Amino acid sequence: MSLRVIGLISGTSVDGIDAALVELSGSQADLQVNLLQGETYPYPAALRSQILDVCAGEPLSMSALAELDDAIAEVFAAAALNLQAKHAPVDLIGSHGQTAYHRPPQGATLGYSLQLGRGALIAHRTGITTISNFRAADLAVGGQGAPLVPPVDACLLRHDQLDRCLQNLGGIGNVTYLPAQSRGEPICGWDTGPGNALIDLAVSQFTSGAQTFDRNGAWAAQGMPCTALVNRWMEHPFFQQAPPKSTGRELFGVDYLHQCLQDASAYPLSQADILASLTELTAASIVESYRRFLPRLPAQVALCGGGSHNTYLQQRLQANLESTQVCSTDDLGLNADFKEAIAFAVLAYWRYQGLPGNLPEVTGANCPVLLGEIHQGGAYSA
Ligand SMILES: Nc1ncnc2c1ncn2[C@@H]1O[C@H](COP(=O)(O)OP(=O)(O)O)[C@@H](O)[C@H]1O
Ligand SMILES: [Mg+2]
Repeated sequence: MSLRVIGLISGTSVDGIDAALVELSGSQADLQVNLLQGETYPYPAALRSQILDVCAGEPLSMSALAELDDAIAEVFAAAALNLQAKHAPVDLIGSHGQTAYHRPPQGATLGYSLQLGRGALIAHRTGITTISNFRAADLAVGGQGAPLVPPVDACLLRHDQLDRCLQNLGGIGNVTYLPAQSRGEPICGWDTGPGNALIDLAVSQFTSGAQTFDRNGAWAAQGMPCTALVNRWMEHPFFQQAPPKSTGRELFGVDYLHQCLQDASAYPLSQADILASLTELTAASIVESYRRFLPRLPAQVALCGGGSHNTYLQQRLQANLESTQVCSTDDLGLNADFKEAIAFAVLAYWRYQGLPGNLPEVTGANCPVLLGEIHQGGAYSA
């Protein structure tokens, strides 16, 4: 028996909705994933800038919040309908939604994470049963609510003999460490810090919004990273903190970029040098976290997410990880652009089967829990 499931996500880059239609069978150790189609639907510019404002901490009235929630749900539903049109019937949607706010747990205070684009509306518009709000249950039992992808990675990409990291490069970076099966060691994972978020913000600022990202890292590649600056930025407490840990644009967003640019003004740097330094911060924070928090450096790091197309960033990671092979999850047979969307399709599929989705050793939760709320598609029939 297999199910056709659509996974939908927009990450912290707020670039658009990644939608993956997959055929799924098995459940965990025997999980099989066949990607039938993946599409990215960019946000309309006005909606994107509204979301970015909210993420930057702009106050929002409850009525504006309600409107934004449904505007996002509508574009998510449209993305699902678009994919479904070519591959009907679809059995299930797993929608991560758009993170507007993320607060990790602190001491006895639980974490809180708000994803917009309500599942009930997506289910109604598409007629397809939709699972959404994946992070809430893990947060309620003391977890970070993130990262949620590692158990899916473990089912799909764990190697018998090879220690492997899967490094997602979205707006924020996150890693899954998969020790070789033969070691019998636990899986771990955490948010590594900034992925593309600071680079994107700097490019937007330098070009007055004409460009939103550094394509292939070509601009940064023309500069030189300023080591003193990168070392200073690496003193940020988030990088010192041991896992479990998660973060968002609250920490590495526009305010932090302004601080970085102010720090940079003490040095004679070109815009290319500043971009190279911000890219080096991403690479250094990733590699430093591996050195500190993994039992050993992995033999292989496979990149995914939009930042995996940043050739300069990939080169800097490789330069900082001499005896580790840096490649893309494409090389392992898992589409690097849609890996996260595929993962939320799998998490929905597990919820549908009544299987817990979180890995407490990764999120820090007190126990395994079912992730996501189910919104029935179509009209009620007894
Ligand atoms: N060709 C490319 N070169 C460099 N960066 C890229 C390229 N394509 C996409 N990106 C980066 O990837 C980001 C989107 O990646 P994505 O995985 O969707 O992140 P998120 O999950 O945060 O939305 C863009 O904002 C951009 O920074
Ligand atoms: Mg994205």
